[in-house]
Amino acid sequence: MDKIVILTGAGISAESGLGTFRDEDGLWTRYPIEDVATPEGFARNPALVQEFYNQRRVQAARAQPNAAHRALAQLQAQHGGEVVIVTQNVDGLHEKGGATGVIHMHGELARALCNACGHRWDAPDTMAPDDPCPACAAPATRPDVVWFGEMPYRMDEIFAHLAQADLFAAIGTSGNVYPAAGFVQEAALAGAHTVELNLEPSVTVSDFAETRFGPASEIVPDWVAAVLAGRV
Ligand code: OAD
Repeated sequence: MDKIVILTGAGISAESGLGTFRDEDGLWTRYPIEDVATPEGFARNPALVQEFYNQRRVQAARAQPNAAHRALAQLQAQHGGEVVIVTQNVDGLHEKGGATGVIHMHGELARALCNACGHRWDAPDTMAPDDPCPACAAPATRPDVVWFGEMPYRMDEIFAHLAQADLFAAIGTSGNVYPAAGFVQEAALAGAHTVELNLEPSVTVSDFAETRFGPASEIVPDWVAAVLAGRV
């Protein structure tokens, strides 16, 4: 199991106190996706969208990584081969847990993006629609998060990693959102062993060769111990 590629979703941060999207009481049961997570919603009401992400930025800044985040950092540090973490999460908890080189395919709450010139910078705690871009001064700043209808970041790089993967794990993701939900098939095509670690079966569970169900803070450290012991 030389090269390991790991995809994470909101479930890995649930026990850090950050809500998921589609579980009971999830974010998308309380906020319409089309209002707060699409370019059209932002064009209609930028103040509402900025406020939604301001709240999430504060929550993420207060949150602490849990045993699952730390276990993945331990895997990166102790596995003999390469361990690539690709996350759909925008909370920054992998880095707080000690992980490195994380690919943030849906962006980061901690970063800001200028819609006019494409400049990126560290987001302030609170963003407002008329904040000027520090590079071009246009009042066109937005959170550097990927919305529905936009292309996730670094896809070529991710598919290149999947094509070389010996082991692929999806952790805490419901399998509803593509392209991430299709990564398991790419990895399997490349000959990787595939494993799902989740609280309950995702909608793509049948694509995985192996499954482990339970809270991430328990099943991820157990799985990491098994990988490091050569039992996977
Ligand atoms: P979802 O909310 O769709 O799914 C979260 C998954 O985590 C579910 O399958 C839960 O069963 C599981 N889960 C919940 N608590 C858990 C725990 N303690 N341990 C392990 N698993 C647990 O979140 P994602 O799949 O990450 O995109 O959602 C994917 C994308 O949809 C997000 O990145 C976001 C969202 O819309 C954008 O905003 C573009």
